[in-house]
Amino acid sequence: MAATGSNDNASFKVLADTVASQIDIHIPYGGVYPALAKREHLKNLPLVLEKSLIQAKLHKKKKPVDAIAVTYGPGLEPALWTGIVMAKELAEKWKVPLIPVNHMEGHLLSVFGKNHGTFKIPKIKFPALALLVSGGHTELVLIKKWMDYKIIGETLDDAVGEAFDKVARMLGLTYPGGPQISRLAEQEREKQSLRGVSQADGPRGSAPRARGDSDPEKIGFSVTLPRPMLHSKNFDFSYSGLKTAVLYLIKDMGGLEKINEKTKAQIALEFENAAIECLIHKTRKAIEKYKIETILVGGGVSANKYLRGEMKKLAGKKIGLMFPTKELSTDNSLMIGIAGYLNFIKNKRKVPRPTSIKATGNLRL
Ligand code: KG4
Ligand code: ZN
Repeated sequence: MAATGSNDNASFKVLADTVASQIDIHIPYGGVYPALAKREHLKNLPLVLEKSLIQAKLHKKKKPVDAIAVTYGPGLEPALWTGIVMAKELAEKWKVPLIPVNHMEGHLLSVFGKNHGTFKIPKIKFPALALLVSGGHTELVLIKKWMDYKIIGETLDDAVGEAFDKVARMLGLTYPGGPQISRLAEQEREKQSLRGVSQADGPRGSAPRARGDSDPEKIGFSVTLPRPMLHSKNFDFSYSGLKTAVLYLIKDMGGLEKINEKTKAQIALEFENAAIECLIHKTRKAIEKYKIETILVGGGVSANKYLRGEMKKLAGKKIGLMFPTKELSTDNSLMIGIAGYLNFIKNKRKVPRPTSIKATGNLRL
C-alpha cells in the first residue's frame, strides 16, 4: 500500500492484494489452534510478502518500502511474535521505521479502506462511536476527536464472534460459524416473514425454551433465548450465558441428533436475534448519552447482514454510519497499514526502537 497526506485527509493506494487463509487448517479443531496458527504464520508470511512485492512491482528494489506496520496485540502471542520477528528483520534489512499497530485500531479504521485502487480518509463528524465486534472482542469505543479512543463498554466474558462460533459448533456447523449461522438465520427469517410470524413473538430475556411441539412447522412452536445484560445500566455485554442457554436448549430437546433442520434454523435465528439485539440496544443507549454523530462498525461480525440492516435502521438519516467492505470486515493487512500510516504521521514520524516492540496479548485501545 502507498500512502500520502496528513491527519484525516491521508490518501492511500492499494498496490497488492494477497491473502493466505488458514481457515481450512483450523476447521477440525472448531477454532484457531494456537500452535498451528504459529506454524502456518511462519510458513505463509515469507510467501505472502514475496507475492505482494511482485504484484506491487517492488521486488527488484533494494529498499522496496519506506516503513513497515506490524500488529503487536491483542491476540495470540505466539502468532503475534511470528509477525513481529519477521517485521523487525525486514526493518533492519531495509533500514526503515517499524510502526507497532493495535489490531483493534486496525478494525476501527478499516471502515475507511477499499479493496482496490485509491481511497481517502473522509471528514467525519464527532463525537463518533465505534462498535468493534470480532472473535475476541466486543467493544463500544467513544471517539471525541480524531484518533482519541475511550472504551465505554465491552464484553465481560465471551466475545460476540466467539459466541457465534461456539453456537455454530453446537448446531453441527463448521468453523468459522458466524457466516453459517447468519445464512441459516437469514433463510429462516425470510420463511417466517412469509408465514407472517412476528419476530417479537415470545417473552424476551426469559430462560431458554422451546414451546409446543418440536416441529416448528406446527403452530405454537417457538424458541426463546435470553438477552444477557440488555437492561444493565452500563454499556457492557455478556455472551457466555447466551451460549450456555443454547447448550441447555439442545440438551433439553434430547441432543442434536433429535433436532431436525428446521429447528436448527429456528435456533440459529433466535440466537442471531438475541446476539444482535444486545449490540443494537447498547449502541442506541451510547448514541443517546454521548450525542453521537457518526457510527463506525468493524471486526469480523460487522460482515453480518442482519447487524448491518439493524444498524442502518438505528442510525437513520441523521447519524453517519460506516462499515468496512465485506472483505475488510474480517482480519486483513490493509487495516493495519492504514492504522500504521495514520499513527506514523500523528507521532510526527517518530517510532519506538524495534527492540521495544513486544507481542502484547491483552493490549487495549
Ligand atoms: O475480526 P475477525 O476476522 O478476527 C478476530 O480478530 O477475531 O473476526 C472473526 C469473527 C469470527 O468469530 C466469525 O465467526 C465472525 O467474525 N464472523 C461473523 C460473520 N462473519 C465473520 N459473525 C457473524 N456473522 C457473519 N456474517
Ligand atoms: Zn480481528
